Amino acid sequence: MRAVQFTTYGAPDVLGVVEIDAPRPGPREVLVRVAGAGVNQIDTKIRSGSMAGGAALAAPSGTGFDAAGTVLRVGTSVGDVAPGDLVFGTGRDTLAEQAVLTQWARVPAGVDPVMAGGWGVAVETAHRLLTELAVDEGTVLLSGASGGVGSALVQLARARGLRVVGTASVENHPYLARLGATPVTYGVGLVDRVRAVAPEGVDGALDLSGAGVIADLVALVGDPRKVISISDFTAPALGARVSTGAGRTTDPRDGFAEAAALPGFTLQIERRYALDEAAAAHRAAEGGHTIGKLVVVP
Ligand SMILES: NC(=O)c1ccc[n+]([C@@H]2O[C@H](COP(=O)([O-])OP(=O)(O)OC[C@H]3O[C@@H](n4cnc5c(N)ncnc54)[C@H](OP(=O)(O)O)[C@@H]3O)[C@@H](O)[C@H]2O)c1
Repeated sequence: MRAVQFTTYGAPDVLGVVEIDAPRPGPREVLVRVAGAGVNQIDTKIRSGSMAGGAALAAPSGTGFDAAGTVLRVGTSVGDVAPGDLVFGTGRDTLAEQAVLTQWARVPAGVDPVMAGGWGVAVETAHRLLTELAVDEGTVLLSGASGGVGSALVQLARARGLRVVGTASVENHPYLARLGATPVTYGVGLVDRVRAVAPEGVDGALDLSGAGVIADLVALVGDPRKVISISDFTAPALGARVSTGAGRTTDPRDGFAEAAALPGFTLQIERRYALDEAAAAHRAAEGGHTIGKLVVVP
């Protein structure tokens, strides 16, 4: 099968398409024929080597953490899906014709499986953040709301009955409003702009883009424990929390089920790429201004 790999850390151009054997699913995993696979900023950080601590890449590596597709094989302990079922979720090396998923849910009827290929990481993160924030009513503020995680968050938060104020560049305000958020421009003056649209106050805030806004979010919320970042690891210095997949206490399948059960849940695809356009997809992700998701279609 064809798969995207890299043999050295570096710029997006280290990505290439190679012919390799299809992976084998472990006992609690499934193998899917990939319909679509999401591109996430974490993929670009791994590929660049910035997370390798100076070590060289030991062996050729695949890329990609989420996908949707048709189940081809199931592990010996998998009982909830069977070959032929259409699933989305998270796994490994998903920019390929076939990939292993470790967590999944069925693609809801009528949903484009290419689009659902971009749901895994964004939905898992959004569900985890809402659970960890534990704000049951009132208003939440999302910094960097028009990207993948933000787009999922707006919809899950609105469905939970929360009011959402989301920051984005001004050209993405109509997109945020369509999702159900009150849009606000990020940058200098953020606190005043949020107070103007949310005079009732902000009950919790999530920093998605890591643009150095923790002090502003704490000022708006009042309680630093109700501020969580997924991108700014200095947040604890101000009493705020950091959330990562590695330390998660939530089950990704609960998040997948929540999104799948939400009528009309959608992640707009900014652009679709072929496997041999993976470098271009990584370059776009690195730009940090994706609207919704970037998806690779093998
Ligand atoms: N810790 C975790 O568990 C975890 C999980 C998933 C993702 N992440 C990280 O979280 C970040 C966001 O992920 P994503 O997939 O949502 O990224 P994305 O799709 O690239 O979206 C980035 C968002 O940031 C906004 N943005 C850009 N510059 C900004 C600024 N100066 N201030 C405020 N917002 C700004 C963009 O809005 P405009 O386009 O309107 O400028 C866009 O909405 C990435 O760094 C990713 O690696 C962490």
